[in-house]
Amino acid sequence: MHIVHTIAELRDKLSGFERPAFVPTMGNLHDGHIALVKQARPLGDVTVSSIFVNRLQFAPHEDFDSYPRTLDADAQRLEEAGCDVLFAPRERELYPEPQTYKVHPANDLADILEGHFRPGFFIGVSTVVLKLFSCVYAGMPAGVAAFGKKDYQQVMVVRRMVRQFALPIDILAGETQRAQDGLALSSRNGYLSPAERREAVELSRELRALGDAAKASNMADLPTLEAQAMQALARRGWKPDYLTVRRRADLQPPQGALADEPLVVLGAANLGNTRLIDNLEI
Ligand code: PAF
Repeated sequence: MHIVHTIAELRDKLSGFERPAFVPTMGNLHDGHIALVKQARPLGDVTVSSIFVNRLQFAPHEDFDSYPRTLDADAQRLEEAGCDVLFAPRERELYPEPQTYKVHPANDLADILEGHFRPGFFIGVSTVVLKLFSCVYAGMPAGVAAFGKKDYQQVMVVRRMVRQFALPIDILAGETQRAQDGLALSSRNGYLSPAERREAVELSRELRALGDAAKASNMADLPTLEAQAMQALARRGWKPDYLTVRRRADLQPPQGALADEPLVVLGAANLGNTRLIDNLEI
């Protein structure tokens, strides 16, 4: 596997290929990332991953500085997974001047849920993803890029960006990988104390219970069920941001009977100093 730090080196290593399979990450890789690499690999003629902790998507009070940087271990895992090129740019390579041109995704999708609790988050994500796409795919006839469904809204924001800018890139959404107890794998799980780690699975349990209750009531009084789910987590010491049932198509609240449209239950909640997110398609 080639490890490159500049856009020029990356393009040099990719020259001659026609369909890169790309997995962008912020590093501190877990089995979810590795599963994405393995899924994406047969879909392209060269496999690329990036590791870049993107300052633009962190609010000043968030964990940009403490986000784990584990390049050597990550590189080893990527190589074992069959990745051909790892692009690990320094900040001044990707942002040599202040990034004043940014992608502002549509409010109806990007200002709700994660975008509501993390204002500007999807501007930062969309901007860096478009920039990484331009580093990887410039001059390529086509490509595929893989994102994990744990960041459900992120996948939707990226898909819409790709569609609206007519980028010749297929987006692959990989299933959430879970620990044995059901906790969704996340780089931020490493922040949890042993006691918090044991408690953390309750988020996915509460999402499942909310999904079951919503189905059982055929969506009667969804706001009450959602409030009850949040209270249940709060009683256990969590600070929930949202637990909610939404349409998979646009993440808006469902209209009409549950059977009418595919739904997803999404949640975000703080456990101690760690903010966890998860979701479940129903
Ligand atoms: O999901 C992530 O790790 C990041 O949001 C991404 C897509 C790599 C952009 O920085």
